[in-house]
Amino acid sequence: MRMYDLISKKKHGETLTCEEIAFMVEGYVGGEIPDYQMSAMLMAIWFRGMEDAEITELTKCMASSGDRIDLSAIEGRKVDKHSTGGVGDKTTLVAVPLVAACGGKVAKMSGRGLGHTGGTVDKLESIPGCRTVLDRKEFFDTVNRYGMSIIGQSGDLAPADKKLYALRDVTATVDSIPLIASSIMSKKLAGGSDCILLDVKTGSGAFMKTLEDSIELARTMVAIGEGAGRRTVALITDMDVPLGNAIGNSLEVMESMDVLKGHGPADLTEISLQLASNMLCLVGRGTLEECRKMAEASIEDGTAFETFCSMVRAQGGDDSVLRDYEKFARAPYRKDILAAQAGYIVKMNAEKCGIASVVLGAGRETKDSCIDFSAGIRMEKKYGDKVEKGDLLATLYTSRKASLEEAGRMYREAVSIGDGPVEKMPLVYARVEIGGIELY
Ligand code: URA
Repeated sequence: MRMYDLISKKKHGETLTCEEIAFMVEGYVGGEIPDYQMSAMLMAIWFRGMEDAEITELTKCMASSGDRIDLSAIEGRKVDKHSTGGVGDKTTLVAVPLVAACGGKVAKMSGRGLGHTGGTVDKLESIPGCRTVLDRKEFFDTVNRYGMSIIGQSGDLAPADKKLYALRDVTATVDSIPLIASSIMSKKLAGGSDCILLDVKTGSGAFMKTLEDSIELARTMVAIGEGAGRRTVALITDMDVPLGNAIGNSLEVMESMDVLKGHGPADLTEISLQLASNMLCLVGRGTLEECRKMAEASIEDGTAFETFCSMVRAQGGDDSVLRDYEKFARAPYRKDILAAQAGYIVKMNAEKCGIASVVLGAGRETKDSCIDFSAGIRMEKKYGDKVEKGDLLATLYTSRKASLEEAGRMYREAVSIGDGPVEKMPLVYARVEIGGIELY
């Protein structure tokens, strides 16, 4: 078999066989297939797409290119969650403790921030002492004891994805549904959970900018998961506007704790409750309605918050900061952004808001940049809100004084004020499962 022939086949829109896909993935991970040939293949896939059967095979080969985590030491059915990434997306910090407090088991491996989007591991590490690297035994023991543990990706999970993602990043081939679906699902399959809940973001701050593409990505990933024997459901949720009122690591932890204490922002609370209900339903805790009631009760009686605190303590963190936010390190510099005119907020470009937070230090400009955990943005007005001239739109926080001007300019550009009121957008657009798509 020759890589040249496979590239030519895909260039002409033909379907690759299982043997050909295995040859390609193994050859690339093993170093026999060079980057320039794989780059040509990625671009051919970008233009020609892949059949569902090809995507499933590609995912399986990528999942078995490294370690596969055996979660059998954890009792009960395990449920995983994955978000395709967004700005202010801290739902893992809320939905996972809701699920654990209601008897679900979540052994979660999360990522770091990528581009303008934040990452759960960075957020957790903003809690003093909280470790995101645990050995297997400690990870399993924490889940068995508290129902949850969230750590960084450990070991050699899907190395084919690591190598392919780095190549896609520099060859303009990230935004391809077969490549995104196989990348995400290879890590989920290797992660070993029985069920998977996917949060596919749609809008200006998401990889998928249109509802149609988001549904196609969700449909593809659900088919892969179910094809591999894992119960898989996807929700399509809004990322046209940043989620909640906070962007930045410790700011987002505080906001997530507000939700668990029962007084968080309505959008974050609603999306987290829907994610948690679906996760609980997947592991057989009841109907969607019953699971939602359970999740709501775990906020009201404080068990979800206490479950999160227990996990933080078990992972070496100081949970007193979650009870008294004054104990979090504070950013030394801040700048208020005021409305330049009266009207309504008619548009918020979520991606630009995310980039402004990266400029403040909340994300990485390069792979090796250090994160400033206290940096970020607190939004006081959001899409649809009425504002008067001079009203406070947002406050920027940073340890780098010089970044305030550029971030302020970006944030102003991201927020448009118009004359008339605008319609509220749905928070959840659709639910996708193997049997069909339910539009909300
Ligand atoms: N997240 C991933 O893990 N992979 C992609 O390709 C895109 C988002």
